[in-house]
Amino acid sequence: MERRNFLKLAGMTAVQLAGCDSGSTTNDSSNGGPLFDAGQALRPLALPELLTGTVFNLTLQTGSLSFLDGKSTPTYGINGPFLGPALKVRKGDTLTLNVTNSLPEVATLHWHGMHVPGNMDGGPHQTIQPGTTWVATFTVNQGAGTNWFHPHTEGQTGRQVYMGLGGLMIVEDETSDMLDLPRTWGTDDIPLILQDRLFRSDGSFDYAPTMFTQMTGLVGDTLLCNGTAGAFIRLPAKHIRFRILNASNARVYDVALSDDRTFWQIATDTALLPEPVALQNLKLSPGERAEIVVDFTMDQGRSFAFRDRVSGADLVVTDIDRAPDTITPLPAQLVTLPVPDPAAAVRTRSFILSMGMGGMRGGAQRFLINGKAMDKSRIDQIVPLGELEIWEISNTMNLVHNFHVHGTHFYILDRNGSASHVAAYEKGYKDVVLLNPFDTVRILIRMTDYTTDAAAPYMFHCHILEHEDGGMMGQFTVVA
Ligand code: C2O
Ligand code: CU
Ligand code: CU
Repeated sequence: MERRNFLKLAGMTAVQLAGCDSGSTTNDSSNGGPLFDAGQALRPLALPELLTGTVFNLTLQTGSLSFLDGKSTPTYGINGPFLGPALKVRKGDTLTLNVTNSLPEVATLHWHGMHVPGNMDGGPHQTIQPGTTWVATFTVNQGAGTNWFHPHTEGQTGRQVYMGLGGLMIVEDETSDMLDLPRTWGTDDIPLILQDRLFRSDGSFDYAPTMFTQMTGLVGDTLLCNGTAGAFIRLPAKHIRFRILNASNARVYDVALSDDRTFWQIATDTALLPEPVALQNLKLSPGERAEIVVDFTMDQGRSFAFRDRVSGADLVVTDIDRAPDTITPLPAQLVTLPVPDPAAAVRTRSFILSMGMGGMRGGAQRFLINGKAMDKSRIDQIVPLGELEIWEISNTMNLVHNFHVHGTHFYILDRNGSASHVAAYEKGYKDVVLLNPFDTVRILIRMTDYTTDAAAPYMFHCHILEHEDGGMMGQFTVVA
């Protein structure tokens, strides 16, 4: 039975865990312990509930869930014990999101990838006290894509995400309506929310970053997909769309199919691509998304797995168990994606990612951007509305970082001086970009539609959550 092989591959070594470089690719599990009890049978992949409409009630709550056989894990979730619903919204609709905090602590809820006004962004300034409801309202002002929401509480984001807060926000528009793409939730449109966790022997999550794990970012030894450890899903023999989100605190995945087949990427972080891009693997750092389509038409009766080529571990097993009800051949053309002309950029801003004593917390090493640790009372950049800019981000450390900007999307211009170092799967609208050790990346970016002031600034930050919480974040306003 193939499934046992899939399961055995779940082992990995401490070296692989610590490193985010793809050089440690191996499928050999003999040198590492099992990620979770190898005797545990595969479990059906959890599927987030899909909600549509314009008014959504989201309750941040405590709960518990069994990830490992015989153990119960105290969790946080949104309208449930772990993670939350997927909200499907439409361009042009005005949304009302009633976010109730039933947790015993302050939280926020940020709409990652959504182009929203600063005071609706759900960043560290839009705190929700326990027992209260924050009402976010905004008009969906962007094209089809897969975005997400997660807490953004000052200094606490890593722990609150680890406990289980997060969910998908899927945008559709008139163009995506007309495309013959797989869109039946749970049948041929499948979310894959990738996370990793450490468990204590009593079953609880072990979120206790040390100085070392704060440096590397906290990586877990148990991979979860939609909150399921060792997941499988049964699928029809047709083109299947997967919406992959790296919702891990720190782990970078290099996603491939177990037979290394070619698949098609149809969307980057925030938007569909002009046409499907043929790939055999794609890297996703924390916060990044990709929509892909895999052709299982000829595979009835066979099993595959999504595999992380960095760790060698499997993410989810796909059993192609039946003939399809419908056929959705992959369209050759998707959307028109205007790409700004770099020659039209009016200025360049630099962002230097480093470590040092830049904090207010006496003496402790902190993660810094331009020599400063995050300070909620300081505005780091003032960005004119509507002007095309180049942001140059430099990773001065021998560690992986990435860089995320709120309130807009951007386009990656080059990496280390060359456009050839931008991978095929990064060439679209993005809101997170990976920086390997000592990388410099230039992005084209423009803030549109909304100005915002120091009371509700936007954030830019490393999306490795232990780095973000450790200070690697800054704030900007947008002025007319
Ligand atoms: Cu996904 Cu500022 O965050
Ligand atoms: Cu964000
Ligand atoms: Cu970082």
